[in-house]
Amino acid sequence: MRTLIMAACAATVLAACTPKPATPTAGQISAAETALPADPQIAKIYQRSCIGCHTAVSSTAPIVGFAPAWQPRLQQGMATLVQHAREGYKAMPAKGYCSDCSDQDLQKLIEFMSTTIPAGKDNS
Ligand code: HEC
Repeated sequence: MRTLIMAACAATVLAACTPKPATPTAGQISAAETALPADPQIAKIYQRSCIGCHTAVSSTAPIVGFAPAWQPRLQQGMATLVQHAREGYKAMPAKGYCSDCSDQDLQKLIEFMSTTIPAGKDNS
């Protein structure tokens, strides 16, 4: 009986903790693909190191500018995000293949990538 109750609890917790992941629309993907950081130096790093995964729906990476993907991550705080970017995190490779990136570079990249890109008219 006890096992049964525990199993039921676990199932409830799981259901509560794993909401259906939001999927970006085609419009949101193309907005992500065309957005660039304003700072040319950061834009260069971004195009070299981060854009490939972070604008690809086929990857599990949070899509650039797509709020539902970034909101829960931002709640960890910037320091944690920078640390995860520096050290790697699950399928995210350490420094996102930018071996010469400083923490400051990573933070600027993350700030850009996690800033919501407003959905345009054709984003249905
Ligand atoms: C090879 C693909 C790949 C590259 C290149 C890449 N990322 Fe990622 N990134 C991922 C994936 C996949 C995740 C999601 C990891 C997870 O939560 O499962 C992720 C997650 C993140 C996160 C969120 C970490 C967290 O704590 O939730 C940040 C921040 C991030 N990437 C920053 C960057 C930056 C900055 C660059 C470029 C310097 C970059 N990524 C390049 C694949 C990549």
